[in-house]
Amino acid sequence: MAKYNKVSEAVIRRLPKYYRYLKDMEKNGVQRISSRELSDKMGLTASQIRQDFNCFGGFGQQGYGYNVSELCNEIRKILGLHKNYNVIIAGAGNLGQALANYIGFEREGFYIKAIFDVNPRLIGMSIRGIQIMDIDAMKDFITNNDIQVGVVCVPKDKAQEVTNQMVESGIKSIWNFAPIDVETPDDVAVENVHLSDTLYTLVYKMNEI
Ligand code: NAI
Repeated sequence: MAKYNKVSEAVIRRLPKYYRYLKDMEKNGVQRISSRELSDKMGLTASQIRQDFNCFGGFGQQGYGYNVSELCNEIRKILGLHKNYNVIIAGAGNLGQALANYIGFEREGFYIKAIFDVNPRLIGMSIRGIQIMDIDAMKDFITNNDIQVGVVCVPKDKAQEVTNQMVESGIKSIWNFAPIDVETPDDVAVENVHLSDTLYTLVYKMNEI
């Protein structure tokens, strides 16, 4: 069940950015920051930041600002990043392998447990010690290994099918990179990541300048 009522999608989308900035400041030894300084850094208004944090009970103190590591920890908890998650990837091609090779996810508690593919030439190989297995073994693997996150890195025409297989096996969140908006039941979270959309936006902006 949701912990916070009426938190808008827009606020949720800003949380990772707050977290990223605060983590950086904490790493650089910044102990305290005013909402004004934070807003200057992040390109948001101070009142926007206060409103966002009020959705979770508010964190600052009048006249003091925010304690950076406390705020960072709070946002980490709100996002759920204080816990660990077991992850699998479907599709061991260019993108699936690149994601499996990235160690940054582990630092935030996302452990990639296996990769699944249909290509017999890839099955049996491993990436950073993570086994590439036959897609036919994916359902059992999900059920037996307490997997919470499924990453979809297969071609577009296979993405919904693979998503459905993950959902049927009990996965509760789908991170899809195929250029199609995959659909999931209401109790399964989904993020469709369209890298090319951001590229097209970039080019639009460039051509406007
Ligand atoms: P790729 O062709 O290198 O890899 C796709 C892999 O999926 C192959 O190894 C293939 O054997 C496997 N596959 C096919 N059907 C499958 C199934 N039913 N179950 C399990 N595995 C299956 O493609 P790439 O470049 O890795 O891209 C993957 C997806 O991500 C595509 O949908 C692509 O459009 C999207 N994408 C890729 C980007 C990139 O930078 N490579 C950027 C943005 C999106």
